[in-house]
Amino acid sequence: MKNIVILISGSGSNMAAIVRTAEREGWAKSLNARVAAVVSNKADAKGLVFAKDQGIATAVLDHKGYASREAFDAELVKLIDGYQPALVVLAGFMRILTPGFVNHYTGRLLNIHPSLLPAFPGLHTHQRAIEAGCKFAGATVHQVTAELDHGPILAQAVLPVLPDDNADTLAARVLTQEHVIYPKAVAEVLGSMR
Ligand code: GAR
Repeated sequence: MKNIVILISGSGSNMAAIVRTAEREGWAKSLNARVAAVVSNKADAKGLVFAKDQGIATAVLDHKGYASREAFDAELVKLIDGYQPALVVLAGFMRILTPGFVNHYTGRLLNIHPSLLPAFPGLHTHQRAIEAGCKFAGATVHQVTAELDHGPILAQAVLPVLPDDNADTLAARVLTQEHVIYPKAVAEVLGSMR
């Protein structure tokens, strides 16, 4: 069985979309894969409640208890590797990861970012897209490399920026598309691992 470990920091709606799609499409049979654990760096991440309700193992590792990024990431690797992951999926995990972490999971670490990469890496993507006068916005699923919000692109969703959009309305429309492209990309990667 290929174990998927999903990392979240907040509401976890992308994680929930992956869990629901896995259930609906029967990934256990079709892909020999399952969401084995959901890990958060924040104890109050809302997504943890959903994961627990689904009977998925959850764990919290608070970064505040660590003196350096390297120390936190080393502990995070230990925690994640306890679930023997075939794939590690970042789903709103709001941490900059060290090269040590990224290199450990080369080829099996995915991220979703709320912009059309390589445009707008980093934070406040929707506000920046609106301020730049972009006519289109979207989200990108990519393999993670050591450089923040870079790496081979696996999928993108593109939607128009509407004249009366603000960062919140745009984010909400992009998020619904994230919930479509992320589970699909995860399934494709799992399928290619057979
Ligand atoms: C999503 O929009 C995701 O693309 C973004 O955080 C949100 C998490 O929502 N990720 C990043 O900005 C990473 N750089 P969710 O917790 O409901 O999935």
